[in-house]
Amino acid sequence: MCGIVGIVSESKDCLKKLQEGLCALEYRGYDSAGITFFVNNKFKTIKNVGSPKELFDGLDLKVKSNVGIAHTRWATHGKPDKVNAHPHLSEKGLFSVVHNGIIENYRELKDSLLSGVNFKSQTDSEVISNLLEYFYSGDVLSAIKNVTKVLDGCYALAIMCKDDKDKIYFARKNMSLLIGINNNERYLSSDLSAFSKECDTYLTLPNNSYGFIQKNKEEIFNFNNEKVCVKVENIENKAFLTKQGKFNYFMEKEIYEIKAVLQDTILCFKENKFNFKDKEFFQNIKYIKIIACGTSYHASLVGEKLFDSLGIMSNAEIASEFIYRKPYLPENTLAIFVSQSGETADTLAAIKVAKSLGAKTLGITNVKNSAVDRECDESIYLHAGVEKAVASTKAYNAQVLTFYLLKNILQKPQNKEAEFIDVLEQNIKKLNIKTMHKNILPVVALVKNSKNIFVVGRNFDYITSLEASLKIKEITYLNCEGFAAGELKHGTLALIETNSVVIAYITEKNLIDKTLNIVAQAKSRGAKIVIISQFNLKKLVAVSDYFIKLANFSEQFMPIVSIIPIQLLAYETSLALKHNPDKPRNLAKSVTVE
Ligand code: AGP
Ligand code: GLU
Repeated sequence: MCGIVGIVSESKDCLKKLQEGLCALEYRGYDSAGITFFVNNKFKTIKNVGSPKELFDGLDLKVKSNVGIAHTRWATHGKPDKVNAHPHLSEKGLFSVVHNGIIENYRELKDSLLSGVNFKSQTDSEVISNLLEYFYSGDVLSAIKNVTKVLDGCYALAIMCKDDKDKIYFARKNMSLLIGINNNERYLSSDLSAFSKECDTYLTLPNNSYGFIQKNKEEIFNFNNEKVCVKVENIENKAFLTKQGKFNYFMEKEIYEIKAVLQDTILCFKENKFNFKDKEFFQNIKYIKIIACGTSYHASLVGEKLFDSLGIMSNAEIASEFIYRKPYLPENTLAIFVSQSGETADTLAAIKVAKSLGAKTLGITNVKNSAVDRECDESIYLHAGVEKAVASTKAYNAQVLTFYLLKNILQKPQNKEAEFIDVLEQNIKKLNIKTMHKNILPVVALVKNSKNIFVVGRNFDYITSLEASLKIKEITYLNCEGFAAGELKHGTLALIETNSVVIAYITEKNLIDKTLNIVAQAKSRGAKIVIISQFNLKKLVAVSDYFIKLANFSEQFMPIVSIIPIQLLAYETSLALKHNPDKPRNLAKSVTVE
């Protein structure tokens, strides 16, 4: 969702630091951006539609200021325009606030406590600055305390008060907020990536807390108004400062990192397995529930099939469905939550529900200390490195591989692990992303000009088709559906016409002919056919308009890598359509609201 950064510093260069911090958060949302900073003891607020970079391009960064807050928005209430951009000032201009999250009772507050206020924006967030002004009688902390009592929903807030020129206040409820610590400098941010490279330590604000930062201290209180001490942690690796290097976009870079990510994942597994605190964690597991959203949900579907093959009843479910259907979880359930960012609100809400039903919880996430990591009994960290592009690629491959490793752990009797790992490593060595990249280029023009695209497959290839269609949709904006190959003839075939494209995954030998039947049905109705397979068979090549050859990966491990050609095809098609594959419209990297 949105990105928040605040700085209180001894030095007077907070604009430059806010620019660096906010641009690092751009992947969290980029509808619009804004900033408030003190200059000559007065608030200066500037807002802009577009990215943080565009906002700061219009500013004189040499203006001297040592306190400021900034926000890059992913709109939930009110269209992405200048008025709705954050920060939001209170009516009398006493408070300036940036907000990540949703205030669910903002309409009721406008009709009650704030009925006399003249609101400028359509957002939910603007009630916060006006509530602060409503409760303020000289003590900001007291005003914040009162505001937290009337707000429903979730929020991470950075607050400036005109009367306090050396502080930034904060409050958080069910939305992450961190404090970066540097000599005579403090940062507030949604995540580590906004902190300057000089910050070596940070702390994660506890849920339901509020307080303030000054240049050399922070004070934190819980919602019972007790002062709390929070453990300061080292920023272990500054991978979040990752640059896109020789690549044109982060998405391209992250696809090219897949091979190394898979190798690192296996190396770490060989060294210390998953290194759980509870060595008996997997004892007596009778039922596995895997819960996630989007791409992480697709990886979960692979996990479901792998665990089913062990004879452990398993089910993958979309988090936003799970939380609202009053689910039942039997005794000895292991609930696994998959989340690249570790901050997805739907997934976090599902953790709470699963815990309330007595399930043991395991997080699979790419971000240490993320909310998923903190909320689950145990966590498995993906070794995917920071993923900046909104469309998830390398994290997906790492998630799928992690399910294979988990399957290996749960397998009874433990199959010959060394052999399993060796075969896996040999396969991954065959990966050549560059070759795959070349192989998909001829298909770009076909996909770019198609009216509707279907990606089809059976069994594991069906899951890959779902992920493939999400990749295509989210960065090319083309209409694309992932389909169980056998299902197309039960209705959707009616959509197939001359301009249609059918991309068929065929990576399972025993399903070649069955899937070819569907391909023939589509082809006979005018569709252009693309086949993605490692089987270089005449009958496959003959029926396809384009044939994308996969490396000779063992069939059993194909779900880990078969998605790569479509990750690359979606990327190239996005470029051909003059989009920005890293920052697709309407989306954000981490959806931290329900
Ligand atoms: C991935 O390409 C999508 N942008 C999106 O579906 C994402 O997978 C989903 O929002 C879940 O995010 P998470 O893995 O960080 O929880
Ligand atoms: N709900 C607020 C808005 O729509 C904040 C959205 C966000 O988290 O970016 O402005």
